[in-house]
Amino acid sequence: MKFSASALTASLLATVIGILLAIPMMLQWERPPMDTAQLGYRGLGMEQVTNPRLAETIAALNKAPVPDDPVDNDGVLVKDDKENYKNVQVLGDLDTAQFNRLMNSITTWVAPQEGDNAGCAYCHNVENMASDEVYTKVVARRMIQMTKAINTQWKPHVAETGVTCYTCHRGQPVPANLWSINPGAKQAGGMAASRMGQNQAAAVVGYTSLPYDPFTTLFEPNAKIRVVATTALPGNTGGSIQDTEKTYGLMMHMSDSLGANCTFCHNTRQFSSWEESSPKRVTAWHGIKMVGDINTTYMNSLTDVFPANRKGPEGDVLKTGCATCHNGVNKPLYGFSMAKEYPELSVPNP
Ligand code: HEC
Ligand code: HEC
Ligand code: HEC
Ligand code: HEC
Repeated sequence: MKFSASALTASLLATVIGILLAIPMMLQWERPPMDTAQLGYRGLGMEQVTNPRLAETIAALNKAPVPDDPVDNDGVLVKDDKENYKNVQVLGDLDTAQFNRLMNSITTWVAPQEGDNAGCAYCHNVENMASDEVYTKVVARRMIQMTKAINTQWKPHVAETGVTCYTCHRGQPVPANLWSINPGAKQAGGMAASRMGQNQAAAVVGYTSLPYDPFTTLFEPNAKIRVVATTALPGNTGGSIQDTEKTYGLMMHMSDSLGANCTFCHNTRQFSSWEESSPKRVTAWHGIKMVGDINTTYMNSLTDVFPANRKGPEGDVLKTGCATCHNGVNKPLYGFSMAKEYPELSVPNP
């Protein structure tokens, strides 16, 4: 009797524990089974773990639209047709036929929605196409310069694949997965007032309680993305505790953005060692520097152009992170090159 009673208690207990475990699992965790692919030599643990049940959602997010059909040149350059093109500052070297095709595509990439202020009217006063009175047109001109800069100056990252407006915008005027300077939630003053940017689960760092704004400093040109000391004693060349926490925050953001594990880039035997890292870590390094350039040279220069409702709580513009282009995959749009169909976006700015 005693035996079966305790067996009953044990199985009841197991059921309760099972249910308690299952609830957070359904809410937060990704349940097994997972797929595993080996990336490095066997025995190194260089492998990728992915959730096959998310594959469809991620694939849908990364489907490229069909590019507009190519058109034949008119034989007239935009800059030579002052009557119809009065205020073209960046795209003047284009043939007029190519210019009009690009305007159509830009509309599909950025503002395809129906309505009075959509389509061409999202950026233009359609009574006077040359006017710069709609702020979105001024933004778009800077974005054209930015896209050309990405495709010409950041080849170590985007390679020949390149980017178009669609890589970030995906048919929306404001891309998904942006960030701005994050002052953190308001809270009581006193000793515990400063969170040091922590303990607030944030999507940008994969819902960990790591610093929720690792970007403001780590996308700077001389950022110290360091953890590992290179000497045994003080005076070490590793990072401070703050550098360390932010570094991990950024790494979580990068992994999450690419749908990749740490081992996509690192050999976890020694995170700092470049010799033992995969070549993708070098591409990622150029990516970090490129994102810094996108945000400081281009996005920040538009601070006075954007209306208040397009800015973050501190009044800065919304900025690009890795997820803005990558959307959960290691190569945006699975490496499909839309930029190839629009060579005009891959020539240097005039
Ligand atoms: C996302 C913003 C955006 C959308 C949408 C857009 N344009 Fe433009 N358009 C621009 C920008 C920016 C320029 C100026 C380019 C430059 O300075 O090199 C421009 C310039 C023009 C000009 C030259 C006007 C002049 O006299 O200087 C014409 C014509 C034009 N667009 C037609 C169109 C048409 C037609 C559509 C809809 C199919 C359209 N645009 C949709 C941003 C946009
Ligand atoms: C690297 C990513 C990236 C690329 C590439 C990019 N954009 Fe943007 N774009 C942004 C971000 C980020 C914002 C939002 C800034 C904000 O709202 O503060 C934005 C905003 C805009 C806006 C303003 C929308 C609004 O309603 O306020 C327009 C218009 C625009 N982009 C046009 C373009 C065009 C045209 C291209 C291609 C020539 C392009 N963008 C390429 C990141 C990008
Ligand atoms: C897409 C590639 C990529 C992924 C994924 C990635 N990292 Fe990194 N990691 C880098 C790069 C690039 C640097 C070096 C940045 C620099 O030197 O400016 C770095 C630096 C680091 C450092 C600092 C090493 C030192 O020299 O002190 C640590 C620690 C680290 N990563 C941990 C992680 C962890 C943990 C993960 C998984 C959560 C991860 N990384 C995911 C690319 C990546
Ligand atoms: C402006 C868009 C854009 C942004 C922002 C961006 N990337 Fe990329 N990235 C690309 C493109 C395009 C490729 C594909 C290049 C190719 O085909 O080789 C790529 C490729 C990569 C690769 C190589 C993947 C592979 O399988 O070889 C890594 C790693 C990577 N990016 C990491 C990052 C990290 C980390 C960030 C943020 C710090 C970032 N990227 C931000 C556009 C972007």
